[in-house]
Amino acid sequence: MTSRILLTGGAGYIGSHTYVALCAAGHEVVILDNFANARRSVPERLEQITGRPVRVITGDVRDGAMLDAAFARHGFDAVVHFAALKAVGESMTRPLDYFDVNVGGLTTVLQAMERAGCRRLVFSSSATVYGVPDETPTPEIAELRAMNPYGQTKIIGEQMLGWLQQADPRWAVGILRYFNPAGAHASALIGEDPRDIPNNLMPYVARVALGALDRIAVFGDDYDTPDGTGVRDYIHVEDLARGHVLSLARLVGSGMGHVVNLGTGRGHSVLEVIAAYQRACNRHLPHVIIDRRAGDVPIYVARADKAAEVLGFRTEKTLDEMCASSWQWVSTAEGLT
Ligand code: NAD
Ligand code: UD1
Repeated sequence: MTSRILLTGGAGYIGSHTYVALCAAGHEVVILDNFANARRSVPERLEQITGRPVRVITGDVRDGAMLDAAFARHGFDAVVHFAALKAVGESMTRPLDYFDVNVGGLTTVLQAMERAGCRRLVFSSSATVYGVPDETPTPEIAELRAMNPYGQTKIIGEQMLGWLQQADPRWAVGILRYFNPAGAHASALIGEDPRDIPNNLMPYVARVALGALDRIAVFGDDYDTPDGTGVRDYIHVEDLARGHVLSLARLVGSGMGHVVNLGTGRGHSVLEVIAAYQRACNRHLPHVIIDRRAGDVPIYVARADKAAEVLGFRTEKTLDEMCASSWQWVSTAEGLT
């Protein structure tokens, strides 16, 4: 069944891949983005991939009047809400901006949806809501603990959505907790595109592979993990995008809300990521072991069975495929505007 979908933050990394997946599933999608963290060339690239004109509203999710006009014009059936600020370190120094965009933006979107009578939403949450988990692989029922303002905004968002569904059963929300998204679209036309020196492993390794940075600093090799380096559950962004299509199908089809992890259920260490990227780019990537990063968690791996049961979601792509597609993207994406 075709749905008309509003995709906030649809020009960003995960949003742009989800746009492609939603179009492939036959949905009509309108992107809303203020391009605070996206290139202006993304819509044109999405047109190249999908072969269809891309509808974009350039605007801010905190602008209720603009949202009302968009709902009146397009009559959306559902919203997929990606728009947010996401840099953990920055959230420690600019917490108010994070509460404003991530919590205020979500509230404004929900209010506009309520006014328009549209009560189906998919929400981008994060594994970061688990803080330092007691159990790994981590199940959805684990306790939620904020480690920083960014994580706190995701917990508040989830709780707000929980209360909303309790207050009015006409609402149905899919809360998706992403583990570590990586990789790029097979076309190499869209991918992760950090503006500054990346904080996260995969984009940092990509910059070293490009020769833009000298070497990878591995943050500690004395963790209680098989090779001593941090372990994460990397999930290909195209698999992740498909998870949103399945979440929407469940919301629109059965009206059933859900909270699920989106991960592979399998972890890879920092050294395994570097080795896989070396295979992808076919060059040696220099790295040095330095101290642990403050606040880092040794292992983050998803319990992935609930997403399989509730959504029929299973990942298909391997770490090697993530690295190969990332390398294809970064090595052809120079000079993007
Ligand atoms: P991104 O920065 O690439 O995408 C976010 C998009 O939202 C950008 O295009 C940005 O321009 C837009 N945006 C920001 N503020 C806006 C505003 N006020 N109004 C309208 N648009 C605005 O980030 P991403 O990696 O694609 O993440 C998408 C979502 O997934 C976010 O909610 C993020 O917190 C969440 N998430 C990301 C990761 C990750 O590792 N990338 C992990 C877990 C959760
Ligand atoms: C980051 C976010 C987290 C988010 C998650 C998923 C931070 C502090 N946390 O955490 O909120 O939910 O991504 O996208 O940004 N590493 C190195 N060298 C580097 C970079 C990272 O060794 O230059 C190591 C880290 O110690 C870790 C692993 O690589 O073991 C992955 O790190 P990163 O990509 O930053 O992701 P998370 O730590 O999971």
